[in-house]
Amino acid sequence: MKSVPFGSTTAPAVIAGMMRINDKDEKQIRDLYDAARAAGIDFFDHADIYGGQMHHCESRFADALQLSDAERDEIVLQTKCGIVPAEGMFDFSYEHIVRQVEGSLRALRTDRLDVLLLHRPDALVEPEDVARAFDELEASGKVRAFGVSNHTPRQIDLLRTAVRQPLVANQLQLSITHAPIIAQPMAANMEGADQSIVRDGGGIVEYCRLHGITIQAWSPFQSGFFTGVFLGNPEYAELNAVIDRLAAAHRVTPIAIATAWITRHPAHMQVVLGTTTPQRVTDAAAGADVELTRPEWYELYRAAGHLLP
Ligand SMILES: NC(=O)c1ccc[n+]([C@@H]2O[C@H](COP(=O)([O-])OP(=O)(O)OC[C@H]3O[C@@H](n4cnc5c(N)ncnc54)[C@H](OP(=O)(O)O)[C@@H]3O)[C@@H](O)[C@H]2O)c1
Repeated sequence: MKSVPFGSTTAPAVIAGMMRINDKDEKQIRDLYDAARAAGIDFFDHADIYGGQMHHCESRFADALQLSDAERDEIVLQTKCGIVPAEGMFDFSYEHIVRQVEGSLRALRTDRLDVLLLHRPDALVEPEDVARAFDELEASGKVRAFGVSNHTPRQIDLLRTAVRQPLVANQLQLSITHAPIIAQPMAANMEGADQSIVRDGGGIVEYCRLHGITIQAWSPFQSGFFTGVFLGNPEYAELNAVIDRLAAAHRVTPIAIATAWITRHPAHMQVVLGTTTPQRVTDAAAGADVELTRPEWYELYRAAGHLLP
């Protein structure tokens, strides 16, 4: 598995998201974990909200795996906080961040989180509050690295006015078909084109490259926001024809080509898989080792319907 820069270290280019394991039994979770590890994925993405009730998927993961201390040391556990579904709000207050980390540590049955992400930008954020929480969590050894998710460049700048720790990751929605963070800057300055509308605060990919922030692409195979996958979907016949042809040429499966489209980007992004099917994990992971050519990458981009002005 190809690795990418991640803070002061490196991490696999494909990681395993645990958002959808809530209705899986323990054997299914173990099989998923084993397939990930066999494919070179030692990095697992969680959030306090996954599973309906708070910390549900985190607990299902820990209950199913019963990791020994030695095995715990082999993996990276990342989780997120800041969304409060029961109250219909986001919360980056000191109290909320610290409380959620304590809950995640209990649920994951571990003494430290390797990475903590702030899940979605809180309009009422006070950077000093976040900094106090991060300093305390870092000093106590409960969190080793910090990052954000769904953040714009200016929201990150605002946090950086007070937060001392490097923000190592920004988890953003990205697939071939849902690619505004890549497609918008390529259509900058185009009159009347929907694609040229800035939806990410402007240049988030470039901002992350400039500041050494690893982009983690969530929903890498969804056509839109939880609208189902584009792979094999007749609504994306032209795209699938290209994907299938490239899969045959590179001797991989279509899901590997969809993965490779993201890992080929020079920002050295990570792909956050959401599948709960072990074979799909294996097949997608193989995509990280496929190096698409520039014409291949652009053919996929155009076949997905993006404008190339
Ligand atoms: N930061 C954020 O705001 C945010 C938001 C959403 C998600 N995430 C993270 O990103 C991860 C991935 O998100 P996601 O689950 O939406 O991404 P995804 O990998 O694009 O979608 C996976 C879903 O598609 C289904 N699927 C159907 N056909 C498939 C095919 N041919 N290939 C692959 N999957 C197929 C999977 O079903 P099976 O399980 O049956 O294979 C699964 O339900 C999550 O687990 C979570 O960790 C983060």
